[in-house]
Amino acid sequence: MKVTVVGAGNVGATCADVLAYREIANEVVLIDIKEGVAEGKALDMWQKAPINQYDTRTTGSTNDYAKTAGSDVVVITSGLPRKPGMTRDDLIQTNAGIVKSVTENVMQHSPNAILIIVSNPLDVMTYQAHLTSALPKTKVIGMAGILDTARYRAFLAEALNVSPKDIQAVLMGGHGDTMVPLPRYTTVGGIPVTELIGKDELDAIIERTKFGGGELVKLMGTSAWYAPGAAAAQMVEAILKDQRRVFPVCIKLDGEYGIDDCYLGVPVVLGKNGVEKVLELDLNAEEKELLEVSRGHVKEVMAVLDNMN
Ligand code: NAI
Ligand code: 2OP
Repeated sequence: MKVTVVGAGNVGATCADVLAYREIANEVVLIDIKEGVAEGKALDMWQKAPINQYDTRTTGSTNDYAKTAGSDVVVITSGLPRKPGMTRDDLIQTNAGIVKSVTENVMQHSPNAILIIVSNPLDVMTYQAHLTSALPKTKVIGMAGILDTARYRAFLAEALNVSPKDIQAVLMGGHGDTMVPLPRYTTVGGIPVTELIGKDELDAIIERTKFGGGELVKLMGTSAWYAPGAAAAQMVEAILKDQRRVFPVCIKLDGEYGIDDCYLGVPVVLGKNGVEKVLELDLNAEEKELLEVSRGHVKEVMAVLDNMN
């Protein structure tokens, strides 16, 4: 199976590396506009193969999309990351143009690929890629929920002093401060989390999760890449291996959860066709209200894109 990762920066290179060393694909093409960078990183990864014992072939290209031809999955990470003081939405002007041109190039050479969008603002960049590609919505999906849920799970594991492997959780909504972690659907080895942690501590973890991306931007001067790159690779794996994993993924909603024409994170079954099914949870009034706030925010940014286009 062949995977292209567009953008050989922090997130793209990390994603390609995970895809290679875990042998999720047998061919990974890294592509970037910066002369030589994708080629160099792909060569470095290939030279790691004898050490880490994998045979995934990694190659790089400077903007030559012919090399990406016939990709089964394309991960789009190209675009500016946040700097301190910026929101994800501040990136829209630059990143929408990049995602549009990249998607056009990708579609010319891999018209049947499933697209996983990572560039920010995530939900609206998924919208842009969907518009440009004209693929079915189940094949143009955004990565954010796995990352945001992982942050929530990691904070909970730390607070409870248990393995992060045993924390299961769902998080919905846009990839921003209005995201909606769902404690009612959070378990620790099958035990409802609310039986193991007090409300104040749980609320504090939820707040930290919502601003988890910003916490890292403040620390590093740019946004995160280890967890984002691994999260995108996990989506690729679910698709290529037809695992039917249940993950929160950004997709266009057309009536699901009573929401129309909006790109939002919801739990889905992810398999060989992309999103195989959207899982509709029976949300309570408070959860519905939080999701509505998130929907309103994403719609505002979608309108900015509509005006630009
Ligand atoms: P980065 O700056 O390290 O890498 C971005 C790369 O994209 C650069 O190498 C740049 O040359 C390349 N690029 C720019 N225009 C291009 C084009 N037209 N074609 C091909 N490549 C192009 O940034 P980083 O940290 O990798 O982040 C990438 C994007 O992912 C940002 O928009 C960031 O906000 C977003 N992000 C999203 C997350 C999510 O959860 N959805 C998590 C982390 C980052
Ligand atoms: C993150 O959440 C900035 O979206 C990026 O780390």
